[in-house]
Amino acid sequence: MLPPGSKLPALLQAARYARDPLGFLIRLQQRHGDVFMLDFPYFGQLVYVADPALVKQLFTGSPEQLHAGEANATVLEPALGPNSVLTLDEAAHMRQRKLLLPPFHGERIARYGELIREVTDREMESWPVGEPFALRPHTQRITLAVIMRAVFGVDDDARLARFGRIIERFSDRVSAVIAFPMLRRHLGPWSPWTRFVKAREELDAFIYEEIALRRAAAEPAAGEERGDILSLLLAAEHDDGTPMSDAELRDELVTVLAAGHETTATGLAWAMERLLRSPRALAKLRESLAAGEEDYLDATVKETLRARPVIVDVARKLTAPLEIGGYELPAGTFVMAAIAALHHREDLFPQPDDFRPERFLEGKADNYAWIPFGGGVRRCIGAAFAEYEMRIVLREFVERAALSAPDPKPEKVKVRNITLAPGKGAVVRLDRPLR
Ligand code: HEM
Repeated sequence: MLPPGSKLPALLQAARYARDPLGFLIRLQQRHGDVFMLDFPYFGQLVYVADPALVKQLFTGSPEQLHAGEANATVLEPALGPNSVLTLDEAAHMRQRKLLLPPFHGERIARYGELIREVTDREMESWPVGEPFALRPHTQRITLAVIMRAVFGVDDDARLARFGRIIERFSDRVSAVIAFPMLRRHLGPWSPWTRFVKAREELDAFIYEEIALRRAAAEPAAGEERGDILSLLLAAEHDDGTPMSDAELRDELVTVLAAGHETTATGLAWAMERLLRSPRALAKLRESLAAGEEDYLDATVKETLRARPVIVDVARKLTAPLEIGGYELPAGTFVMAAIAALHHREDLFPQPDDFRPERFLEGKADNYAWIPFGGGVRRCIGAAFAEYEMRIVLREFVERAALSAPDPKPEKVKVRNITLAPGKGAVVRLDRPLR
């Protein structure tokens, strides 16, 4: 017997999801319980689990049986390539993950604090005073500049500008091919796929050029080191002593760019969208920062990612049958951890529609109930980096800017590429010049 789910035709289910992704998934969980099904055109039937014990089973089960890479590859492979940590499984996945983890470790990333603050302050100078504007394009420029400099180590202004344009073109062109895999065919020079492939070639050429420049550059003097993540990856070795090839480096760099830029920017836009509609939380945040405390800031970031998870679900494709929640699922099934639905369960997060950072002040968040970064051996490699960056940027916004929401209605949740974003881009107004 298959789990229960919506009886609507696949196309209608997709239309409902597109109109209100968060609400649609939350209602399905409320109606059908911890395990439910969705039917999507092209992707077919997806089984969602929205219970911490079942999510734990999914995240800690055998990586041989639960293929995240294969599931991710159906959507992401054309952009990320065959060596990406996101699209590989089992030993090949761990081989890449092992090299990528150390540069993103909490202690290492602390060195990027000053850079993040500097980039944020520079971007804030471009905000108009007294006029409504969408915040998300600004947070995107911030996270993009941070990744270009902290990860790729590009710091020459002209090169940064060129790289930024290439990435923007790539991001624009990738949307259509992600959302509609059936478009992945050359149908003339203006077809989405042809334009995407051209943008990918341009991005790859830039990245290979950067790798070559870096390999050719003189070794830093003794006691000195370049701080960027590309330099760490160039020096890293697999267990068998071999360095990463250019093709591996390219795929991991594009992966980090794709996984880390829009996600963090969207999280930041949501943080302000929520805070401006939760005056009590905003006042407490200001107070706590003025008192030199960071706990409430950290809790605000966590509550943002609970209430408005940027990634709505994560997938595992079964390579063998699996019993989960009383259902026997055949090999080939896509099983999804229903992040958004789980984050809105009344028993796990009382009054789930309220924005209350306080819920994260006592004790650590449950690893299988609060899962904005997925989990297990696939947990987001950039989680510490993203939370750290969000804390710094948010602090600058809240301390320096008197922002208000011209329209107090909550913004709708919209699907943008692989993220759930505020429908209008988090429209704000700067009421007075920056402090
Ligand atoms: C708020 C920001 C972010 C969110 C919500 C987010 C969320 C996620 C999620 C849900 C996954 C899949 C986990 C799973 O399958 O269990 C993931 C994977 C990943 N993320 Fe993030 N992410 C964010 C920021 C970043 C950043 C800043 C980076 C790097 C700079 C990054 C790099 C990665 C990588 C490399 C993976 C693949 C891990 C693997 O498959 O082993 N992410 N992220």
